[in-house]
Amino acid sequence: MSEAVRFSKEGNIGIITINNPPVNALSQAVRAGIRTGLEKGIADNDIAAMIILCEGRTFIAGADIREFGKPPLEPYLPDVCKFIEDSPKPVIAAIHGTALGGGLEIPLSCHFRIATAAAKLGLPEVKLGLLPGAGGTQRLPRLAGVHAALEMITSGVPVNAARAKDMGILDAIIEGDLKAEALIFAKKVINEKLPVRKVSERQAKADSPSVFDDFAKANARKFRGAIAPFKCIDAIRIATELPFAEGMKRERAIFLELQASDQSRALRHVFFSEREVVRIPGLPDDQPTREIRSVGVLGAGTMGGGIAMCFVNAGIPVVLLEVKQEMLEKGLAVIRKNYAGTVAKGKLKQEVMDKRMSLIKPTLSYNDLKDADLVIEAVFEDMAVKKEVFGKLDTICRPGTILASNTSYLNIDEIAATTKRPQDVMGMHFFSPANVMRLLENVRGAKTSPEVYATAMKVGRTIGKVPVLVGVCDGFVGNRMLAKRTRECGFMLEEGALPWQIDKAIYNFGFPMGPYAMGDMAGLDIGWRNRKAKFDSLTPREKACNIIDKICEMGRFGQKTGSGFYQYDEKRNATPDPMIEELITRHSQEVGITRRNITDQEIIERAIYSMINEGAKILEEGIAARPLDIDVVWLNGYGFPAYLGGPMFYADTVGLKKVYDAILKYRDLVGTEYWTPSPLIERLAGEGKGFYSK
Ligand code: 3HC
Ligand code: NAI
Repeated sequence: MSEAVRFSKEGNIGIITINNPPVNALSQAVRAGIRTGLEKGIADNDIAAMIILCEGRTFIAGADIREFGKPPLEPYLPDVCKFIEDSPKPVIAAIHGTALGGGLEIPLSCHFRIATAAAKLGLPEVKLGLLPGAGGTQRLPRLAGVHAALEMITSGVPVNAARAKDMGILDAIIEGDLKAEALIFAKKVINEKLPVRKVSERQAKADSPSVFDDFAKANARKFRGAIAPFKCIDAIRIATELPFAEGMKRERAIFLELQASDQSRALRHVFFSEREVVRIPGLPDDQPTREIRSVGVLGAGTMGGGIAMCFVNAGIPVVLLEVKQEMLEKGLAVIRKNYAGTVAKGKLKQEVMDKRMSLIKPTLSYNDLKDADLVIEAVFEDMAVKKEVFGKLDTICRPGTILASNTSYLNIDEIAATTKRPQDVMGMHFFSPANVMRLLENVRGAKTSPEVYATAMKVGRTIGKVPVLVGVCDGFVGNRMLAKRTRECGFMLEEGALPWQIDKAIYNFGFPMGPYAMGDMAGLDIGWRNRKAKFDSLTPREKACNIIDKICEMGRFGQKTGSGFYQYDEKRNATPDPMIEELITRHSQEVGITRRNITDQEIIERAIYSMINEGAKILEEGIAARPLDIDVVWLNGYGFPAYLGGPMFYADTVGLKKVYDAILKYRDLVGTEYWTPSPLIERLAGEGKGFYSK
């Protein structure tokens, strides 16, 4: 029997114990081991019932995703599940931690299911672009009902043990020691001669034939662009229409089709990249880090307040410093209001909110930052102010304190040079709203020590962010690439497109919103100010492409002023504004461009490929170490659709040669200044390779 699975006996009960760290994924060895264990238990006349349980931190976390894409190995999971269900002796699943995917399909094939109170059960396959492929779509609606199955399988969100019991998935919730209680449960099953109950023999009934279409329609926006949720719905519908064995065949066929799809490949890439991203090439796994027990935050504005919330949410006390009492109070009031909103929604207990607020120490005095292990500056985006602040921090903070800036664009090395400890200075670039957005760009300066940036990566994880290590350049990874998209969209407005056409194309590509709706939401004045600051370094065409200046000069800053690129009603619903259309058409005349029809395909190519080309330059310059770092930035900070895997993965899916050819086409159309292919793309395209297949 494989080492990953052990069979042991306690009286007349057989125990199949899985031990396949870290998460007991269902590798071939585990599948085979479970089957062998069952065979032993069935063959042994002394055994009257069996228990499946796991060692380590969790029950089975699902199929071994690393085996996907390789030739499948026997025994297949659906067959193992069938073997469990067909066992003449009762089999009990004893669950702790998370039973996910195949890790729930095994219990669904058992005859009884018990779990610890803290356990979570889910079918997250949809998040990998799949459906549950070992009977989940056929057994769950039979056990928990069609509606519950639709919710659980299409969302992929796990339920807690109490909810699972209410849904009929669990027979009991265990308070004490799981193994001891599972043995007691098994004895009861044996003594009371409880029958072997097969979920597959139950009926799955839909309340009405329209329930599936209604569900798809009600969730159309949520599922937009993704294939898997609709396939999940189909499979659940099949469970209500066909006999179990037929349904299993259909589920398997859909599973294999999805497994081979670009979307599933992309989503698996996302899963592994988000875990790989914290491993820094060149640093050992045991790289020493500093302990962060207290944090100072400078500036209680939009970003400072959100950053403070991130740390106190994780139980790390924060000293929050402002220049004026009035600003401090204003900042604290916003934090309080944010928490109160969550409390009002019933998502946070009042005591927890009070505890978090008590962890924030407001101050006007730099002296209070003396003991901080990490200080993050989020004051005005002005180099002179930043330099003054870092100079002060350098004199006040104890040696070893990490000094970080949340700057969006300013040069971290220049800031670091104002201190006597450039090795302890770096950027920690949060995204707005900082307490919500998962991305954290950790910016390593030329002199930042590995211990310091490794600490920032670790603390990023502690506060629930997805930290990505990047280097110093204008806009770092995310905003630098975004700037290229913004520029290209501006040119397309001049050449014949309208903001709503561009927005629609980008939205249909899969982004949550287009660039103009986003600009209106964030406030157009931010981009306008940034443009003015950089004006001297712009090309003549960039200078002349001043549509945003014209709009802002009219006081139209977006949603907050009731209009921007769009017109807004009291409920902030956007409508295209004929005045803006006129302004843009007039602008084209002024700059001497004859407007033409621009297709959605051109919009997507120019908006996305301009970013991919910049991403390739970022890789060449070493600003990002790997393409996956860029993908993770765009997935977590800018709403790049996960089912496309991020811009660099998407480029590979399209084919780099095709991307390269398009870049050459736009070079001829728009100009070499804007569309020179990066040497990396040129080389890879020539060799028939991709960013990920070098
Ligand atoms: N297969 C292979 N490796 C897996 C895995 C899986 N199903 N789940 C997790 N891992 C790996 C991770 O890649 C990571 O490896 P690393 O240390 O080398 O980076 C390690 O296990 C630990 O994972 P996390 O860092 O995510 O640990 P957490 O404790 O934060 O989370 C978890 C644990 C909740 C189980 C989380 O890992 C998770 O959500 N895993 C995926 C679950 C899933 O999607 N299951 C469905 C698989 S598809 C399926 O079952 C198909 C079936 O229907 C036929
Ligand atoms: P903000 O204007 O909302 O807040 C800045 C705060 O800093 C103000 O409350 C101000 O009183 C305070 N302040 C100014 N000088 C100070 C000093 N010397 N000491 C202490 N406090 C001081 O600005 P916001 O938007 O929070 O931006 C802060 C920083 O974060 C900037 O560098 C910005 O580029 C960056 N950033 C902003 C993002 C955004 O979307 N707003 C996103 C990511 C980064």
